[in-house]
Amino acid sequence: MSTADGGARPSAAIAHRLPNITYVQADGAAQSVAVRAGMSLMEAALRYDVPGIEAKCRGNCACVTCHVHIDAAWQSIVGAPGAMEVSMLDFAEDVDARSRLACQVRVNEACEGMVVDVPQAQRILGF
Ligand code: FES
Repeated sequence: MSTADGGARPSAAIAHRLPNITYVQADGAAQSVAVRAGMSLMEAALRYDVPGIEAKCRGNCACVTCHVHIDAAWQSIVGAPGAMEVSMLDFAEDVDARSRLACQVRVNEACEGMVVDVPQAQRILGF
């Protein structure tokens, strides 16, 4: 299917590949962005200049400057953290059961509406 100007019209399947993810800061400021399935939450945060996600190691699971909180309901959709991620979280602040490293979480088509909280410490530490 194409548009009058010859461009491709997005199908429902393509639109589904751009789930909307909302990043919420500790002060409640929210930023919703459309993220291509397959990108990491860190890559999307950098692309859209989400505050508090510095990602100093650029996704190598070696710096914890991409620490975020994801509620349990979404954890089951994005999968459990690997052993290296769990180990690295020992070095982050504000760690709890929701903690994930955004570079290790891949967005998939079932992530539509997912909320990602940026812990207060990410801002305080200048991450
Ligand atoms: S970007 Fe460094 S641990 Fe995620």
